[in-house]
Amino acid sequence: MNLMDLMKNRFSARKFIVGKEVAPEMQKQILEAGLLAPTARNAQPFRFYVAGAQVSEEVIQKCTRANFHAPLNILIAVKKEEAWVRVIDGWNAAEVDSAIAATQMMYMAESLGLGSCWVCAFSPEDAKKAFGLKEDEIPISILSIGYKSEECEPGPLHSQRKNIDDVVMYVK
Ligand SMILES: Cc1cc2nc3c(=O)[nH]c(=O)nc-3n(C[C@H](O)[C@H](O)[C@H](O)COP(=O)(O)O)c2cc1C
Repeated sequence: MNLMDLMKNRFSARKFIVGKEVAPEMQKQILEAGLLAPTARNAQPFRFYVAGAQVSEEVIQKCTRANFHAPLNILIAVKKEEAWVRVIDGWNAAEVDSAIAATQMMYMAESLGLGSCWVCAFSPEDAKKAFGLKEDEIPISILSIGYKSEECEPGPLHSQRKNIDDVVMYVK
């Protein structure tokens, strides 16, 4: 499948096959896809915390109500002091870097025939504890990943894309 088809087919998956785990080799490919992300000054200021099938349910329950019972949850955290900072205004690239990594992981999962949902509606404090982050690491997003169940379908927001003319401005 080419990249455009992959992007057109992807939707946030919120129902997964119970008991069907994501094989370690697939997990590895997803994590590698994250590490291959471009980052400002190649700083790679992220950390990936992996909650596999044995612990996922317990870990997720502790930090969010957005629990889709996925067998794999990857929390993407950042260490802000490792990131590139724009001198002119002090802007820190850590969160953008982490979002690119998460996006690459999301599409890697998709290309492996898995579904995923990007979750930010969690308690940062509880997520830090549940996933075991260090003091100076900030949780940014959680990717819930697994095999889509038969009832899994796109949510109501999925098809609500803006018109391309409303978001693209040609500079003259
Ligand atoms: C930064 C970010 C945060 C999100 N947080 C959540 C979330 O907490 N819970 C959830 O169910 N979906 C979450 N989503 C998924 C979006 O709701 C979803 O991508 C959007 O509605 C478009 O639907 P689609 O992914 O099916 O195309 C998040 C997505 C992004 C990019």
